[in-house]
Amino acid sequence: MLAAESKVVTSGATDSSNADPARSWKKIVEPVEPFLHAVTQQLMRQARDFDPQIVPYAEHALNNGGKHLRPTLVALAAGCFGQPNESHVKAAVIIEMVHLATLVHDDVMDEAKIRRDSPTVAAKWGNEIAVLFGDCLFAQALKLASSYPTPEVCRAVALATNTVCSGEILQTQQRRKFVAARRDYFRVIEMKTGELFTLSCDLAAFLSEATAEQRAALREFGASVGIAYQVYDDCVDLFGTEADAGKSLGTDLAKGKLTWPLLLAWERANAEDRTALENLIQDWQPENFNAVNALLAKYETFAPSVEVIEHYLEQARRALRVLPASAGRTGLLGLTDFIAQQTGILAVQ
Ligand code: IPE
Ligand code: IPE
Ligand code: MG
Ligand code: MG
Repeated sequence: MLAAESKVVTSGATDSSNADPARSWKKIVEPVEPFLHAVTQQLMRQARDFDPQIVPYAEHALNNGGKHLRPTLVALAAGCFGQPNESHVKAAVIIEMVHLATLVHDDVMDEAKIRRDSPTVAAKWGNEIAVLFGDCLFAQALKLASSYPTPEVCRAVALATNTVCSGEILQTQQRRKFVAARRDYFRVIEMKTGELFTLSCDLAAFLSEATAEQRAALREFGASVGIAYQVYDDCVDLFGTEADAGKSLGTDLAKGKLTWPLLLAWERANAEDRTALENLIQDWQPENFNAVNALLAKYETFAPSVEVIEHYLEQARRALRVLPASAGRTGLLGLTDFIAQQTGILAVQ
């Protein structure tokens, strides 16, 4: 469930029938509900495939809800070419497991306590278990990926996983370094988040035997939506509420992750404010939050962040033009409107 599903707020979504987020999300996932149900069931089965002493961690991580955005993307992208089948479900399960592995590790690095409204694996069992269990999840995903009759899927999953983890490494190298983070921000978020969105669309197209042009269009869609989604998530970390997000927020600031609104504030700030911002981040204390917030407001960083999100969502919509009309294509377009709508909701929090 997306964070603001419970709220009824009008937003900048392009389709006015999407005014209620819960209803618009339901509208997107309803046609693919059997697919998502199958994914949930298979994730539960995967959890039981671990060593009995590991099963509690696996069940906690794999059976704990989440929006299943990437499986939704697989289903909708497959829906551009007909009905998704078992091979698409398996791809969605694999990608969700890779995603979960990255979250388990990300929560160690961010010292996050809450994920999907529950304690993180690290908070519940400690960092050592979380790191090792994250590794097990990556391995389990690759094991499942190797069960396709051809090696293409496994290779694509391995490559994408490498890219996601490399994106996280680049981001870690650039913590508290404004110049480097500004230069590489979009590259990093395309790697750490865009890549699994791209993979979801790409594998769906591959398994549906789409043409090279259709596959490229869906890859571009995935990358653009993924970038938009991470900028949105970065805004959630600064402007959202933990109750709505269901996860620990403020960790980007605490860990010196320089996200787009912060980079904008830094770029726009006069010399004095720029130094102040650098010092606040350099020597982070929770009580610095108000001062950072004041700078984010002073330099009006939210509106241009929304513009960036809109830009990438529009790029994603444009990429779909080469695809014929289908339920899947409608759903993918609906997803872009939904992210725009969620972003609009942040403005009123
Ligand atoms: C969280 O992803 C990490 C990001 C890429 C921002 P989701 O927002 O898809 O998290 P879950 O899967 O719903 O928990
Ligand atoms: C996304 O970054 C993490 C990965 C892509 C692994 P974040 O650190 O922003 O994700 P959340 O906010 O903790 O979900
Ligand atoms: Mg995090
Ligand atoms: Mg985040």
